[in-house]
Parts: sequence; structure tokens; C-alpha cells
Amino acid sequence: MSNDPLMQPYRLKHLTLRNRIMTTAHEPAYPEDGMPKDRYRAYHEIRAKAGVALTMTAGSAAVSRNSPPVFNNILAYKDEVVPWIRRLTDACHEHGCAVMIQLTHLGRRTHWAKGDWLSAVSPSHQREAAHRAFPKQLEDWDIARIITDYADAAERMKAGGMDGIELQAYGHLMDQFWSPLTNTLDGPYGGDLDNRLRFTWDVLDAIRARVGDEFIIGIRYTADETLEGGISVAEGLEISRRLADSGKVDFLNVIRGHIDTDAGLTDVIPVQGMASAPHLDFAGTIRRETGMPTFHAARIPDVATARHAVSSGLLDMVGMTRAHMADPMIVQKIIEGREHDIRPCVGANYCLDRIYAAGDALCLHNPATGRELTMPHEVTPASVRKKVVIVGAGPAGVEAARVAAERGHDVTVFEAQPDPGGQIRLTAQSPRRREMIGIIDWRMAQCAARDVVFHFNTYAEAEDVIALNPDVVIIATGGLPHTEVCATGNAYVVSSWDIIAGDVKPGTRVLVYDDAGDHAGLQAAEIIAKSGAHVEIMTPDRSFAPDVMAMNLVPYMRSLQALDTRFTVTYRLHDVEKSGNMLTAVIGTDYSNHLERRDFDQVVVNHGTLPMDELYFELKPQSRNLGALDQDAFVEGRPQPDGPNAEGRFSLYRIGDAVAARNTHAAIYDALRLLKDI
Ligand SMILES: Cc1cc2nc3c(=O)[nH]c(=O)nc-3n(C[C@H](O)[C@H](O)[C@H](O)COP(=O)(O)O)c2cc1C
Ligand code: SF4
Repeated sequence: MSNDPLMQPYRLKHLTLRNRIMTTAHEPAYPEDGMPKDRYRAYHEIRAKAGVALTMTAGSAAVSRNSPPVFNNILAYKDEVVPWIRRLTDACHEHGCAVMIQLTHLGRRTHWAKGDWLSAVSPSHQREAAHRAFPKQLEDWDIARIITDYADAAERMKAGGMDGIELQAYGHLMDQFWSPLTNTLDGPYGGDLDNRLRFTWDVLDAIRARVGDEFIIGIRYTADETLEGGISVAEGLEISRRLADSGKVDFLNVIRGHIDTDAGLTDVIPVQGMASAPHLDFAGTIRRETGMPTFHAARIPDVATARHAVSSGLLDMVGMTRAHMADPMIVQKIIEGREHDIRPCVGANYCLDRIYAAGDALCLHNPATGRELTMPHEVTPASVRKKVVIVGAGPAGVEAARVAAERGHDVTVFEAQPDPGGQIRLTAQSPRRREMIGIIDWRMAQCAARDVVFHFNTYAEAEDVIALNPDVVIIATGGLPHTEVCATGNAYVVSSWDIIAGDVKPGTRVLVYDDAGDHAGLQAAEIIAKSGAHVEIMTPDRSFAPDVMAMNLVPYMRSLQALDTRFTVTYRLHDVEKSGNMLTAVIGTDYSNHLERRDFDQVVVNHGTLPMDELYFELKPQSRNLGALDQDAFVEGRPQPDGPNAEGRFSLYRIGDAVAARNTHAAIYDALRLLKDI
């Protein structure tokens, strides 16, 4: 047996976990009608098959009707969930993976205008900033019913074949009872710590009475709210000791922090640019103080840190949750001695931000995650080896190269720049977003292992492409900044990319006009503000930077609010006029005929890109398919047809921003979707 500390089995009560790596509860928002159906099962099954020891499914599965999901969670309060849970647990067990599920009542962390339109409930009237419901303060009959709901839900999960359950107690109802900030009840459930913990004991007793002594019950809880007046370290340690001494729980899953604001949530689940494993030592302290089986996850993205967490005795089970979203094959790759092949989680947090903003979790650079029913995590070799020529080595181009090479094709890539990466290379110039280059580096390493030929500093002409006698040509040339937003004066503006690339020096009084609403606008604003300038970030939309999304916005705000910046929403840039050394911005609004004029010395526009498509249009008439993408075949996962031009010598396709300005996920998904069938 391997002597890797991570690969040692762990005994939890009667259950043997085959190694020390788990995925913690994370609801990817894949349920259909509140049930974990085929997509859900496939998502967990692949990681089970690849060797993860324990998958904590769901995340915030709802035990009660008046805990309506805020981002499409499993409805554990419905009896019809049992057969779906059974299929999920059977599928994971078949591969030797233990399966548990996190149950919760959200308390005030939801909204009444969801589900059955029942009021949110909490031990106080205090509203949660993130979800905004003013809760009803719990009455005795609410509490009694919710305790029974927990027991019912636990019984359903046991009936569905779960190895155990975990109760969520950070930011949800259970710890809303614990925290003096959210519990203004009198006794028996409010007041001193004994009273504030009473709900937890009642729930645990009710569950235990239903599921018996053997069934595993754990708790994922905050042992330090890091909030003035909230659960302190001392009280958190006391709660931890009482949980241990009670004998009512079988493991502790430690959280540090609070999640009632986007900023608080981001400190609990850090994103790129923030410290790695910031709460690991704290979790280790809880383990030492209680002697309990201790689990923990918070930005432990790499195997070395995970190994340290276990070998140094800080944790019994280490959560690598987003790491598995980026690469569900982690354990298999460790076992096969292929750690270097693990697709890195770069902390972009597209996954988590999307569950609120777009309805399901997707990994920024692994488009197969959550699409296991249609997209492969590892592609199969092609039956016929083809010559594939790719133009452009941005995210779309290098993904196309990787997939084509894994299929066994002979691949050549042309890139005009000296290095691969395109817009990602520029993004990664921000110290906070440096990890983004991992998206490119991983693909370049995969290409290097498969002898892909790269020609950098080469602006490919049609003859260069044709000279290679390709079977398939992929145009992944990306786009160029599009700044023509004004009726007059477009010549006076610069693009956000000019600033990010360092091609244009920041001014001193700058308008950043951002109607793309993506990272580039804020990244440029940050560079300018850090140079000491005054920056006004303006958007015609109701809120700024919508595509940056909630948790990704946090580091920007922490940086920008400390600088000389101002945010203006609902105003549109109409014209820019030159007036002496200054520029006059003529500013209007979509809501009225209001117009105003303000002076700046620089106007920066963030308005996406226009495709670099000349080469595509030059090659198009010579191609077999005349550039056409058969969208049905593309979407349904079939090979592309030959095309109408019998004279044509190659098939030609465009992917990524060379088609239209989108994002990194779209570019990489285009490439995988197309190339996996070529
Ligand atoms: C899409 C997504 C949904 C999540 N939902 C939950 C949840 O419902 N309950 C929970 O306790 N944690 C949830 N988490 C947090 C994870 O369990 C984990 O604590 C977090 O991702 C940090 O670990 P990591 O750095 O290994 O990803 C979620 C995470 C993600 C990415
Ligand atoms: S989107 Fe980013 S944080 Fe989420 S799994 Fe993918 S790489 Fe990791």
C-alpha cells in the first residue's frame, strides 16, 4: 500500500473511508424539480469512480417547506426524494465511495418570495444582508415542527442509502440560534449558551431517535464568526467541546467566519489572490481541543497542501471541493503518479458565483464539469489521425490544441504574440488574478507532452495555413477591443485592454465607461486608481460589473473603495469632445433626455471585443464546409458533416471570441465541444 498520508484509509465509526480526500457539501444547483436526477448523479459518480473517499452531496438540502432554496437545492422534505437519493448512493457505492448529505434549515438566509411563499423564520427579526428577507421571529410551534422536519429528512436520507448526514450550522437556522447577533428569543431557546444550543440538541436527539446509533451524524459549523458581538473564538471552542462531550455527533466539519454578506462569504470561501488554506490551522486547533474526527475545506486547492493538512495532524479528512470541480480525477491521478496532470483550480470562483447569477455551477476552465452526460473529462483517441492547424493560442486555441492532441491528431498552432494566453495573459498581470495563467500553463504542459508544434511571433497568413496541408483549420484568433460607443469622439478614448496591457499610461482624472460589465473594466479601473488618479466608473446599467458577480466583486471593492474612486450607475456616455488638454464627456441616461458635461483627462471604454476574423473569411471559400458549423451536430455531440464544397481541401471552424465577444468558459467550451468529435 502507498505510504502517502493522503492515501491512508480512515475509520469513522463503522465506516472505512478509503483515503483522506473528500468533497464537502456544495450544491451545484443541478437538481431538477428539487430532485437529484441524472445530471446530479453523473456529476458525483465520476469523482466516486476516480477515487474520492467521501462525497458530501447536496449542500443545504432543505428539511422544511419554509426553508425554500435560494439556488436550487435538493428538497429533502419531500418523500419523492428517496428513490433519487437511492440511485445516487448506489452509483457512488458501486465505486467504493462513501456518500453523505448536508441537511439544513436556512432560517433567515432565504426569501419569502420563493417556493410556497411562506415567511422566512429566525430567532430574531434581524434581516440577513445577502438574502434580504425580514424574517418572522420563531414561535414555539415553529420550533417544534422544524425539529420534526429535521428528523423526517434524516430518516429519508437513511432510507435512500446515505452513509450519514451533516447538519449545516454556519449562517443557517441552527447557528442563528447560537449567535447573540441573530437570537433575541427568551428562554428556553434564547439567552445563555445553554439555551442557544438547546435547538441543536433537540434536533440531534430527534434525528438519533429516528436513525439509530450506527448512522453517522456530523455538523458543519462556524467556530468563530469573526464578527463583533457574534460567536467568538472562546465561545466557538466551548461549543466545539460541548458538541464533542455530548456524544451526539460523529464528526466536526470546521468553518471560520460568517456568510451573511458577500464579503463575509468570500472570507469563508476565499477566491484567487487570497491566502491559501487560511483557516486550516484553526481547524487543527479544534481537532486538538476536542479529539473529534475533524474535516475542513477552504481553498486547499493543491495536493501538497492537502497532504500537509493530513500529515501534520491538522485534519482527518481534507476537503478539496472546487479542486474536484476543476478536475474530478484528482485521486486517480495521485494514485497513478500523475499529480502533474491535475487540472488546477485557479480560484476563479466562476462556479460559486454562477449558482446565484446564472442558475448552475460551471467551472471556468473545465466545461465537462456538470456536463458529464455529454462532455468527457478525458477525451478518447480518434480513429483517423488528422492534421489540425489552429490559429491563435488564447484559451480557445490552446484548449483546441490540447483536445486535438489527446485525440491523437497532428497539431500545429500559430500565435502572433511571443507567448500563449491571449486575454488571459493580460488578466493574469493583475497580482490578484495571477493564478489565471494556470488555465494556459496546464494546457501548454498537456500539449508539450503530446508534441504539439507552436509557432509564436507568427502572424499566420492563409498561405502559411494551406502550406501545411491541413484536414482541419480552427480559427481561434480572439478579438480586438471595441471602443466605438460614442456618436462622436471615439478617437479620443482608449480601451480597458490598453490600460491593462500597459500600452497606455493612466491619466489623473479618468472616466472608465464600462458597459460590458466584465472583469476588464474593473481591472483597468484598479490599475488607474492605484496610480493615484481619481477614477469614476460609469455604467448605463442598473448595477455595475454584473458579469463579475458577487464573490469576485469582493476583492475589487476592497481595493477600489480604499482608492479615489466613485461609482455611477444608469448614465450613458454619448460623446467625447476635446477641450484644451482635457476631454469633455457628454453624459446622458436611458431614462430621460437629461444631458450633462464633465471634464476628464482620460476616457477609458470597456465594451467587449470585435472578432479578428480576416483570416477566417479569407480561408472560407477554400474550405470544404465553407466555414459552416452544423449547430445540431455541435450541440448533440456528433461529428461535423463534410460540407458542400467538394473542391475544398480542409474543414474550417471559428471558436471563442473570434466568433463574438464572450468569456473564457464559452471559449474553452467551444473548443472542447467541437474538437472532441474531430
Ligand atoms: C457551487 C458551490 C456551492 C456550495 N454550496 C455549499 C452549501 O450548500 N453548503 C456548504 O456547507 N458549503 C457549500 N459550499 C462550500 C464548499 O463546501 C467549500 O466549503 C468551499 O468550496 C471551500 O472549499 P474549496 O476551497 O475546497 O472549494 C459550496 C461551494 C461551491 C463551489
Ligand atoms: S471556476 Fe475557478 S474556482 Fe471554480 S472550480 Fe473552476 S477553477 Fe476552481
